[in-house]
Amino acid sequence: MDIAIVGSNMVDLISYIHRMPSEGETVEAPDFRMGCGGKGANQAVAASRLGAEVVMVTRVGNDVFADTTLKNFRKNGIDTTYVLRTDASSGVAPIFVDPDSRNSILIIKGANARLSPADVEAAREDIARCKLIVLQLEIPLETVYATIELGEVLGIPILLNPAPVAPELDLERIRGIEFFIPNESELELITGMPVDTLDDIGKATDVLLGAGITNIIVTLGSRGAMWAHADGREIIKAPAVQAVDTTGAGDAFIGEWVDHGDVTASIRAGNRYAADSVTRHGTQSSYALADGSLPEG
Ligand code: RIB
Repeated sequence: MDIAIVGSNMVDLISYIHRMPSEGETVEAPDFRMGCGGKGANQAVAASRLGAEVVMVTRVGNDVFADTTLKNFRKNGIDTTYVLRTDASSGVAPIFVDPDSRNSILIIKGANARLSPADVEAAREDIARCKLIVLQLEIPLETVYATIELGEVLGIPILLNPAPVAPELDLERIRGIEFFIPNESELELITGMPVDTLDDIGKATDVLLGAGITNIIVTLGSRGAMWAHADGREIIKAPAVQAVDTTGAGDAFIGEWVDHGDVTASIRAGNRYAADSVTRHGTQSSYALADGSLPEG
């Protein structure tokens, strides 16, 4: 097994809109698509489509969305041993994408809010066989901290994508993680520092380096990413593309985080994969296979 993803799954309900309605107003939107999403699941599917062996630790509900999600994991070759059924609704994400491809996302965590440290402990044997543990913040923070502690005990590097941002994230409890991958607004909220310029962003990453995180990779959308580490910082540019939907780009970037030999190569590959994904609609539906083609169905 290459990667253990301890995280969320959602069903995405994506409305493509001309504009958001005002209070009391009804407006017509031109298009709608439903698909499998959730930051954890998206990252798992991207990684698996690129050839990684992935085990997913997550909770689905007791509704029709749970069956859809399980079927989708299996179709994408993900190990579902630790996809647990829960007496709750499944996670759901109503998403709005405007004509400029900008998105607004609501999440209803449902079963994801019940993923517990005990659930992670139950997967210990399989997690122990992985080269990397990947986390986001759509599950309880205590479960995130417990997974980080388990990673430390097992000697497995941790990648934490602090999305959606939790201002109460305790930097002391994530000390020692290998990769921290926020976007600009997440970095701003976590550090309380401005991120208006690349210099500001660099200074904010210094706070995280000072807090004991080894590599901070700040995703900068169409500008690429900044990698900050003990020996300095660098910007790795993304290819220019015509975006139609950027909703799943951050997760595509992380899903590419397989073993590319070094961090720069991983960021370059992540930039390319994310840029390709924004040229298509949806989240997982926008992720290509390793040869660049799209999966059937
Ligand atoms: O990062 C995009 C994802 O955020 C969507 O798939 C949605 O489900 C939310 O989790």
